[in-house]
Amino acid sequence: MNKNDYIIRLETEKDYHEVENLAREAFWNLSFPGCNEHYFIHVMRNHEAFIPELAHVIEADGKIIGCIMYTKAALEDENGNMKPIVSMGPICIHPDYQRRGFSRILLEHTFEIVKNMGYDTVINFGNPDNYVARGYKSCKKYNVCFEGDIFPAALLVKAFSDDAFDGRKWLYRPNDADAPCEDEAAVEEFDKNFPPKVKAWQPSQEEFYIHSHSVINW
Ligand SMILES: CC(C)(COP(=O)(O)OP(=O)(O)OC[C@H]1O[C@@H](n2cnc3c(N)ncnc32)[C@H](O)[C@@H]1OP(=O)(O)O)[C@@H](O)C(=O)NCCC(=O)NCCS
Repeated sequence: MNKNDYIIRLETEKDYHEVENLAREAFWNLSFPGCNEHYFIHVMRNHEAFIPELAHVIEADGKIIGCIMYTKAALEDENGNMKPIVSMGPICIHPDYQRRGFSRILLEHTFEIVKNMGYDTVINFGNPDNYVARGYKSCKKYNVCFEGDIFPAALLVKAFSDDAFDGRKWLYRPNDADAPCEDEAAVEEFDKNFPPKVKAWQPSQEEFYIHSHSVINW
């Protein structure tokens, strides 16, 4: 991709509605009928864990076609030591612009800023297909798990240096920025700010179920 084909920049307040609409277009019916990622983005900007310096948009053909957000999270070892990390997500590219390398640009650009901020680890919960090419590895490879020694297949870790992990076990301590999304009525109400869209089943919802309920055991 030619650098003249796009503009990557920080999100500004003026972009909020356009970014939320883009997220709605990208995530609609993907994980379940409808979506809540546009509401997630809306509420996360006011959460204490939100990192505005990392919220980026990418423009092509004079409009915003992608966005990426990050929040603060932590890992805790068995002695109670905390390691500050960042959690990436949501990331999305408008359906008309997918599979052209735009998410790669968003990730690689913001990874540099994450590193300069002093973090050595990015974590996200998602479909491995989207991230392994960016150097993410299974959480199991770094001994990072959920409470109860659960290593979700979708828990993906991007380490920026070889000494970011030394084999000890770390518990992932996510933030609760997505908690408001459980309020389905609030999501429905917020959705009225956007053009009508039809909720429907599609196969990606089964794929999402499989990925989000799978764990790595050996
Ligand atoms: C997932 C998403 C952000 C990827 O953005 P994109 O711009 O289409 O991705 P890119 O073109 O930069 O591709 C990135 C890499 O992932 C791979 N990839 C992308 N989509 C893939 C898919 N569906 N299956 C397998 N590999 C895929 C590409 O091969 C590419 O690898 P490469 O850089 O080595 O060539 C975009 O498809 C999207 O917005 N989807 C809907 C929302 C979503 O699922 N967000 C992520 C939540 S977990």
